[in-house]
Amino acid sequence: MQILQSAPALQAQTEAWRQQGLRIGLVPTMGALHEGHLQLVRTAAAENDVVVASIFVNPTQFNNAEDFRLYPRLPEADAELLGPAGCTALFMPGVEQMYPTPAKLRFDFGALEHVMEGAFRPGHFNGVATVVSKLFHLARPHRAYFGQKDLQQVTIVRQMVADLSFDLEVVAFPTVREADGLAMSSRNRRLTPADRTRAPRLYQALELAAEQLRAGQSAAAARQAAIDYLAQEPAIQLEYLEVADAQTLQPAPTQPVAEQSLAICLAASLGDVRLIDNVVV
Ligand code: PAJ
Repeated sequence: MQILQSAPALQAQTEAWRQQGLRIGLVPTMGALHEGHLQLVRTAAAENDVVVASIFVNPTQFNNAEDFRLYPRLPEADAELLGPAGCTALFMPGVEQMYPTPAKLRFDFGALEHVMEGAFRPGHFNGVATVVSKLFHLARPHRAYFGQKDLQQVTIVRQMVADLSFDLEVVAFPTVREADGLAMSSRNRRLTPADRTRAPRLYQALELAAEQLRAGQSAAAARQAAIDYLAQEPAIQLEYLEVADAQTLQPAPTQPVAEQSLAICLAASLGDVRLIDNVVV
């Protein structure tokens, strides 16, 4: 596996691959890799000739300076995991490579970003869209891989790809979970042992709401059941829990609609660690 640290080096490599007719898969990450990330890389390796993984803790998508400062950074350990997973080139740029000048373009995804993560993390999706579009230009992928764990992110990336006619396919990969149901996340490393034992309750709450929806309950009832379940654990501070249309991410209608797929999405903090998760029904 080669390690590329400059934008021109990545462009030169991906241009050469394109000229050889090779299919390029891209897996953008912020590092502190776990099995969820590695499954994206393995899938990209199975579906493409070469795989670029990127590790860049993107400052423009953090609306909380402390969260950016504390974000886990483990570049050596990450590099050792990527090769065996099938990564061809690891792109690890510095901030000056990605932002030689501060980005001035502003993305506006309308209603898609007025809910959930967009509402609670102002500017977050502008930063995501900025860095992901830069990575698309530099890596020129045929396919780009994203996790459904960040449902609103992959929805916004799809919208951006459509709006800007990026010539690539966005692949959404199912959420990879720990044995106890907790969605894998780089931030899980920061949970105290006590909070780690409490964290699976987030997924349990989502599954509880999912069960109710499957049984024909209304979105409002399912949502309330999940909120009540989480309230039993005072160490969990719920930020939001929404039942939304899985495509538009807008609040689900009060009465069930046949054939509509719904996403139950939440964000919650345990101590100073903020986690998100969702289940699609
Ligand atoms: P990061 O949180 O490192 O996640 C990188 C990719 O891995 C994202 O597409 C994310 O949805 C996916 N992922 C994370 N946890 C997962 C899990 N448990 N199961 C399946 N996929 C999972 O998301 C970002 O970085 C950044 O916003 C980025 C897209 C790299 C832009 O900076």
